[in-house]
Amino acid sequence: MNPSATVGVTCHSPNAVLTDPDGSPVRREIVLRTEALTRTYCMGDSTVHALRAANLVVKRGDFVALMGASGSGKSTLLSLLGLLDRPTSGSYWLEDVEVSTLGRNRLAELRGQRIGFIFQNFNLLARIAAWENVALPLAYRGGKVGHGEQKKMAMESLDRVGLANRAGHRPTELSGGQRQRVAIARALVTQPAVILADEPTGNLDSTTGLEIMNLLHDLHAEGRTIVMVTHDPLIARHANRVCTMRDGMLTEE
Ligand SMILES: Nc1ncnc2c1ncn2[C@@H]1O[C@H](COP(=O)(O)OP(=O)(O)OP(=O)(O)O)[C@@H](O)[C@H]1O
Ligand SMILES: [Mg+2]
Repeated sequence: MNPSATVGVTCHSPNAVLTDPDGSPVRREIVLRTEALTRTYCMGDSTVHALRAANLVVKRGDFVALMGASGSGKSTLLSLLGLLDRPTSGSYWLEDVEVSTLGRNRLAELRGQRIGFIFQNFNLLARIAAWENVALPLAYRGGKVGHGEQKKMAMESLDRVGLANRAGHRPTELSGGQRQRVAIARALVTQPAVILADEPTGNLDSTTGLEIMNLLHDLHAEGRTIVMVTHDPLIARHANRVCTMRDGMLTEE
């Protein structure tokens, strides 16, 4: 397949609702779309082409596994999708917003409201309780969500990942798998458009990793949209689409 061809359905309008190419009556909205998304790092005299003109369309309810060798550009793409980094060139629509031209504040606001990011190393704050970690994306909303409401929403999210009984524990008082479940609860608490997970089981033993995958599997079954980086083909089997990165180029199997 031509790596520069659009991955997924062809799409002419960023917020169009399209039928599936197989003619099935399922109509799902496009959650995100990139067009020739490119990230280049300049290192002295040399240039690293971390992401080369990636075209990706993700629709509501998709579960995309992103695979590829170390250094192929998976985290680079996920960081751009998660609004943690800016592209060198190309376009990115998140829902109906073209984000590559937005200013820093608007970008941070959008990230807090529409993106749920899950990291390999959990990225929890060590000094605060699990529920406070989960409530953080709500706390950043400039006082729009009151303290009581923040706690209520955090508790609901912790309950969803089976950890309501650990809400008062700090991350250091939790196992690795529990920490990742807290991080997943934090990613869910804002009802994001998409959950982005960069090797979410990479720091866990295989049994605990399986528990986390079962949780992501259930979240997908409930209709959530997920893009997940993984090295493990067994883990990628949970996804309904597999995209592969090779030397900065994105293709779909
Ligand atoms: N901040 C940076 N500055 C310069 N080069 C970078 C930077 N971040 C990543 N790169 C380079 O971009 C390329 C893609 O890196 P990236 O982290 O996206 O790979 P990856 O597929 O996630 O790898 P891994 O599986 O090891 O996590 C690599 O060649 C890397 O060295
Ligand atoms: Mg990576």
